[in-house]
Amino acid sequence: MDKIVSLCKRRGFVFPGSETYGGLANSWDYGPLGVELKNNIKNLWWGKFVHQREDVLGLDAALIMNSRVWRASGHLENFSDALIECKSCHQRFKAEDLGYQKDDQSGNTFLKIFTDGNRNCPNCGKDIGFTSPEKFNLMFQTFIGPTDPLNNLFSLWLDFQKSEKNKDKFGKEKISEEINNLFKNIMETLVFLRPETAQAMFVDFKNVLDSSRKQLPFGVAQIGKAFRNEITPGNFIFRTREFEQMEIEYFIKESEWEKSFDYWREQMFLWAKDIGIKKMHEFEVPEGERAHYSKRTIDFEYDFPFGRKELYGLAYRGDFDLRNHFKNPPYRDPETNEEFWPHVIEPTWGVDRTILAVLLEAYDDSNKERIVLHLKSSLAPFKIAVFPLLRNKPELVEGARKVFKDLKKSFSVTWDDRGNIGKRYFSQDEIGTPYCVTFDFDSLNDKAVTVRDRDTMEQERVAISELPDYLEAKLS
Ligand code: GAP
Repeated sequence: MDKIVSLCKRRGFVFPGSETYGGLANSWDYGPLGVELKNNIKNLWWGKFVHQREDVLGLDAALIMNSRVWRASGHLENFSDALIECKSCHQRFKAEDLGYQKDDQSGNTFLKIFTDGNRNCPNCGKDIGFTSPEKFNLMFQTFIGPTDPLNNLFSLWLDFQKSEKNKDKFGKEKISEEINNLFKNIMETLVFLRPETAQAMFVDFKNVLDSSRKQLPFGVAQIGKAFRNEITPGNFIFRTREFEQMEIEYFIKESEWEKSFDYWREQMFLWAKDIGIKKMHEFEVPEGERAHYSKRTIDFEYDFPFGRKELYGLAYRGDFDLRNHFKNPPYRDPETNEEFWPHVIEPTWGVDRTILAVLLEAYDDSNKERIVLHLKSSLAPFKIAVFPLLRNKPELVEGARKVFKDLKKSFSVTWDDRGNIGKRYFSQDEIGTPYCVTFDFDSLNDKAVTVRDRDTMEQERVAISELPDYLEAKLS
């Protein structure tokens, strides 16, 4: 992991967020190469699951939704982790991370295990014990509109202190009335940042259906940010509080759920293969550990350096969500005229975890001479690098610039004229550029360039006039 984190920072894939101000724990910024890699992943996904299919439609919904969405979806009630605190150092942990079993809804499972034995705090090492688990909702909150309840609360608190000091009974009564108003205002303006992209695809179901006139089965796909106030973020971009998801809600008739589940399960393996992820394993999530909405879940796990952890998920959500959002059945079968609530299969992919897994798979420092990212060409930030053999020979620079500008019309290409050719190859290998093109003295006469392959390091002489077609064929 250290090697990946260091490469990401050094070469501009991922930087620590807000670094100039000392950083912000577990926040990361995607740099110039990172954003290319990320966009390539998202575009590939969109191409495969939206553009190349007839049965999946896209959506790009608002991040902040009406708070009633989260009440109906069950997130206000259930989207929580059990939080425990070390009684000695007061460090907070997700109970699950310390090996305690997941909540059985009533909380009894935890309480039993907590009284059963001691466990040393991973932070301070003491075994004084932990507080009882408390439900901690993971949704980020904010307030909408020209209102500042926190500031109002602070002013009230100051007024209250004054009235206490002056034994001002009348003042205290007035404050208590204002506190009531303040809470009313909080409840009216409180909104949440979405913790998953999924809900908008349920809430917009009828709009998508009516405007597209699709029939079951069909899916809605969305890529976008999600926010979770994770108790224990960490492991670089693996678990963060702000991340991106690529999700599909695939609407089906209930009778088809098993067939559809198996289909999407296969699609998820095919996707992993497409982007070069090999170490993916299935984990059938047992009842009691599944999300509140799921009737069946498979976690697709990856062997990260810090252990086998969830990369993607596949869930059968039944008709839980559509029933929660629509009082009346939102779908009418065109043949039977029967109205019903469609069921849902949900394959979901984390963008940031994909990036991490892709980088881990691609990273190769087995050859002492060079570090290589064996990225699939479709994912590489740059497909081609163009160099003049020497930067101080204007005729070589001019020839190379012409090649560069020409290729740039069709490919993502970078220019490099620093250092010697060996250093440039090293530099491009490290960021995963599949092909390097060098314009040398011979090019002036034979109108050809040297093309070097990142993985085999083999070099080939290619006519400049044939270069775009040659590279197109190689990259596809
Ligand atoms: N709509 C279903 C859903 O959100 P999830 O398993 O909670 O399911 C889906 O999340 C995917 O989002 C995960 O498989 C993972 O790739 C990614 N993900 C979840 N929490 C994350 C976090 N805190 N940081 C980065 N990625 C995360």
